[in-house]
Amino acid sequence: MEHKGSSASRLLYVFSCLLMAQSASGDISYSISEEMKPGFVVGNLAKDLGLDANQLVARKVRIDTEDNSKPYCGINLRTGELIVKERIDREELCSETASCILKFELMLENPLQLHRVTVQIQDINDNSPFFPKDEIKLEIRESADKGARFRVNEAHDTDIGQNAVQSYALQTNEYFTLAVNSNTDGRRNVELVLDKELDREQQNEVVFSITATDGGIPQRSGTVAIHVTVLDANDNAPEFSQGVYRVSIPENSPVDAVLLTVNATDKDEGLNGKVSYEFSRLSKKAKSTFSLNSDTGEIKVIGPIDFEKDSKYEIIVEAKDGYGLSTDTKVIIDITDVNDNAPIILLKSLNNPIPENAAPGTEVGIVNVQDRDSENNRKVRCNIQQGVPFKLVPSVKNYYTLVTTAELDRELQSEYNITMTVTDEGSPPLSSSKTLQLSVADVNDNPPEFVRKLYTAHIKENNKPGSSLCSVSARDPDWRQNGTVTYSLLPGEINGAPVSSLVSVNGDTGTIHAARAFDYEQFKSFNIQVMARDNGSPPLSSNVSVNVIITDENDNSPQILYPSPEGNSLVTEILPKTALAHSLVSKVIAVDADSGQNAWLSYQIIKSSDSGLFTIGVYSGEIRTQRDISESDAMKQNLIVSVKDNGQPALSATCTVHLLISDNMADLPELKGMPNGEGSSKLTTYLIIALVSVSTFFLTFIIIILAVRFCHRRKPRLLFDGTVAIPSAYLPPNYADVDGVGTLHSTYNYDAYLTTGSRTSDFKFARSYNEGTLLADHTLRKSSLSVNDHHDLLDNTELSQVRCVLYHTFST
Ligand SMILES: *[C@@H]1O[C@H](CO)[C@@H](O)[C@H](O)[C@H]1NC(C)=O
Ligand SMILES: *[C@@H]1O[C@H](CO)[C@@H](O)[C@H](O)[C@H]1NC(C)=O
Ligand SMILES: *[C@@H]1O[C@H](CO)[C@@H](O)[C@H](O)[C@H]1NC(C)=O
Ligand SMILES: *[C@@H]1O[C@H](CO)[C@@H](O)[C@H](O)[C@H]1NC(C)=O
Repeated sequence: MEHKGSSASRLLYVFSCLLMAQSASGDISYSISEEMKPGFVVGNLAKDLGLDANQLVARKVRIDTEDNSKPYCGINLRTGELIVKERIDREELCSETASCILKFELMLENPLQLHRVTVQIQDINDNSPFFPKDEIKLEIRESADKGARFRVNEAHDTDIGQNAVQSYALQTNEYFTLAVNSNTDGRRNVELVLDKELDREQQNEVVFSITATDGGIPQRSGTVAIHVTVLDANDNAPEFSQGVYRVSIPENSPVDAVLLTVNATDKDEGLNGKVSYEFSRLSKKAKSTFSLNSDTGEIKVIGPIDFEKDSKYEIIVEAKDGYGLSTDTKVIIDITDVNDNAPIILLKSLNNPIPENAAPGTEVGIVNVQDRDSENNRKVRCNIQQGVPFKLVPSVKNYYTLVTTAELDRELQSEYNITMTVTDEGSPPLSSSKTLQLSVADVNDNPPEFVRKLYTAHIKENNKPGSSLCSVSARDPDWRQNGTVTYSLLPGEINGAPVSSLVSVNGDTGTIHAARAFDYEQFKSFNIQVMARDNGSPPLSSNVSVNVIITDENDNSPQILYPSPEGNSLVTEILPKTALAHSLVSKVIAVDADSGQNAWLSYQIIKSSDSGLFTIGVYSGEIRTQRDISESDAMKQNLIVSVKDNGQPALSATCTVHLLISDNMADLPELKGMPNGEGSSKLTTYLIIALVSVSTFFLTFIIIILAVRFCHRRKPRLLFDGTVAIPSAYLPPNYADVDGVGTLHSTYNYDAYLTTGSRTSDFKFARSYNEGTLLADHTLRKSSLSVNDHHDLLDNTELSQVRCVLYHTFST
């Protein structure tokens, strides 16, 4: 009700005013546009007020402003026209008030007349709309939604009405539209509406303008620039430059080597775009092998890389921005092989020891070669050292068999250190070697071997039973019992006695002992066979012969063959009276069963009837006259001759030589008076005389027979005396030479005169000597035989009483 009432009263007011203007004749009003030039005639006051223009001056007409404000208008005193005196700016005067009225009072004097004059100032469009700022800066987050509104201060136009802002226009842009709404209080709300979402990463600023236009004529407008800064929102995750990173590195890459750098970028800015990296999925092994720089994305090696353990790594790397948006990528690290593993040799089996009689090609062992590397780095070559009788034969895959290439001999080499070398084909190649020790087992393949081919033992006769003769020794290079040697005597006979009765052998030491005392005169040497045998199975043996030489001792005294010793001899040498000095009278012949010095005889006249008449050759035993025989010399002469050997101590024998100095046989009967135990002495004397003449022929005959028989059979030379054969060995080496002359042949080839019945004499029979000689068996037998032959021969010729002594010649 009140509201209605007030509006009704305002209406009433307007109406009354209109009424007043019309009724108040003294008032006048005009209307002019603002901004008229000074001098502009607003209206003719005089005319309008009905005043006489000529009287104006007189009436001192003037215009007063009510409140002493600026006199915008004046009056032309001459014409009474109201004119603009100063610039009238409605906006200045009235601002936004809708009606702008200048009020004056026109005063006239004489009579005082007062007129009220009002001038209504009409607006003209003299002002453009304007915005409060030249530029509007907006900061809008890119995450702002479509439809979001952003208020913009409206533009102002000091003009009013139609001349005020009527419309806004937006410079076309892809993001914003304009929404203008009027408020209830008449103000306008200008808003920018987001029509399309912003993307800072695409465009971080949007610049456009809004133009406000008034409705005046001509139209005026004002423009403001709008600068929209798009603020970042974390709307972008980091992005890796590659979907998958792949890198290949050799194993054993050094620590700190950079493998690769992953690079992720985030289009956001600031913290939103700050990318950090981390491993998102990583095996434990990879964790200790690789590191990732969280700022730079650098992946480095921090631990050992071994192709043989892992040849490939797959790592997921995550990139994160400051607010946690993330992406990941895969990093594949291929490890390439480096020849870092030397091949190795494994011994799979070994036949150790190997018998030395293994045939070439025998398999000894199996080796396996391994290399942990791959490709060429694991290809291997296998070698065996030079100079051993083994080789490696490739077998299946990486297996090799070790075989012998030659025969082995434990006795030459009992142990082999076989070095095998294996090299791979990497670059540089790696190699390793293995030495295996192989023993060669013994086989009993060597018989014992005596150190010497022949042993000779010297032992003096009359030795003690059990004394050692010598030692034999045999070596057997085989091992242990295969090389343990025992010695034994091979059975045999010596002179019909078993060897074992003569000597014995110590089986362990090989020392040969005499089983009894030996007699040089029985045998001077004998031969035994000793066998050395090893303990192998089967055993091997070898034989050696041991020559035992018995050395002489002076245990036999000389034996005088002629004349018979100790005065028993009836032999008498006949010496012609005409014999001159130095003529040979007789010869004492003696032998000694010993040998050497022990048998080296020397002769001496120890007693003679006429000392000074005869001498005896110290070594020859020849009795010679020392001077010419004279008539005064006794017819019968006796000499006692001693024969001594050269042994230590020396042994001797004596004999008596009877001599008859006579020229004719008539003296011979005197011989009957000589001591003679036999009645046959006369016959003997005759026989002797007969023999003197035939002996030469007889001896020659014997020599021829013997020479034929002995020389044909290349017999050793013998001293022969009818039944007695004295081997040359009986004589000392210089026995023949003691006489000093080559005349020995003839000198000794002379007759011997023996008494009848001398067959009973105690001459040693040659047989016993013969069988003890060093001569080879067959020779010995033959010589005995020939001696026997001669014996028979002599018997047959019934010259049983004749003894012939034949000294075999020494023709060197
Ligand atoms: C990452 O990649 C971007 C563009 O792909 C490049 O500009 C920047 O230099 C790279 N950063 C590194 C550390 O390589
Ligand atoms: C084999 O090697 C061993 C030990 O290294 C050594 O004692 C032996 O003498 C060697 N044998 C040969 C035949 O080289
Ligand atoms: C001796 O040789 C035989 C083969 O003849 C052999 O079996 C044996 O093992 C060898 N003995 C030794 C101790 O080597
Ligand atoms: C050694 O002599 C014995 C007996 O005569 C004989 O059986 C053996 O074969 C001989 N050994 C050698 C190696 O001659």
